[in-house]
Amino acid sequence: MEGVRETTPEAVRSLHSEVMRLHRLVDDLHQLTLSDLGALTYRKESVHLVEVLADSVDACEADFDRKGITLERDIPRGQAPTPIFADRERLRQLFSNLLGNSLKYTDSGGRLVVRVRQDDAMITVDLEDSAPGVPAGEIDRLFDRLYRVETSRSRTSGGAGLGLAICRNIVEAHGGTITASPSSLGGLLMRVSLPLEEAAP
Ligand SMILES: Nc1ncnc2c1ncn2[C@@H]1O[C@H](COP(=O)(O)OP(=O)(O)O)[C@@H](O)[C@H]1O
Ligand SMILES: [Mg+2]
Repeated sequence: MEGVRETTPEAVRSLHSEVMRLHRLVDDLHQLTLSDLGALTYRKESVHLVEVLADSVDACEADFDRKGITLERDIPRGQAPTPIFADRERLRQLFSNLLGNSLKYTDSGGRLVVRVRQDDAMITVDLEDSAPGVPAGEIDRLFDRLYRVETSRSRTSGGAGLGLAICRNIVEAHGGTITASPSSLGGLLMRVSLPLEEAAP
């Protein structure tokens, strides 16, 4: 038929990925809108953060492998029994956003170190990746909606710059903090701190 493109496997794949991109975009916008309205619900329960994190890392390990990025875990398995009071699905979303960023914005041949430590009141997750990082003057803006560093915009990533805004919402809804700073590995260090259940208000 005239004006109708042939449905080659390649065309179907590209259409599918475009639909998925739009789906994620609508989802993210919806979530931020609900959050603005105070209508975003969290189903909190006793959760072992280390388990959720390990699952999230497992889920994307192959992608890091394919891109030639070495993924190092410094996650105490079973050794950090103190739970946090959290929404498991939102935590999964938080970690998959952060891991997805490291995957997307770290050059092939690089490294990502995921580290967990715990003190009396908080459990802290560091995701530290290698180059490229973010110019110091722009780091504070990363959590702004729609903000993307100039060099990332040209990457074939399709992100809308909403991921870290959502991450911040999720972390703050759990009484925690999220910060970005330059990493000693040459990239970005994202630090998430969440209160342990016993310490939570
Ligand atoms: N690990 C990282 N290394 C380098 N730059 C990053 C990293 N994570 C995020 N960024 C920068 O922060 C911007 C905002 O991230 P995000 O809110 O997740 O939006 P998106 O991934 O859709 O662009 C990205 O566009 C990128 O410029
Ligand atoms: Mg992102």
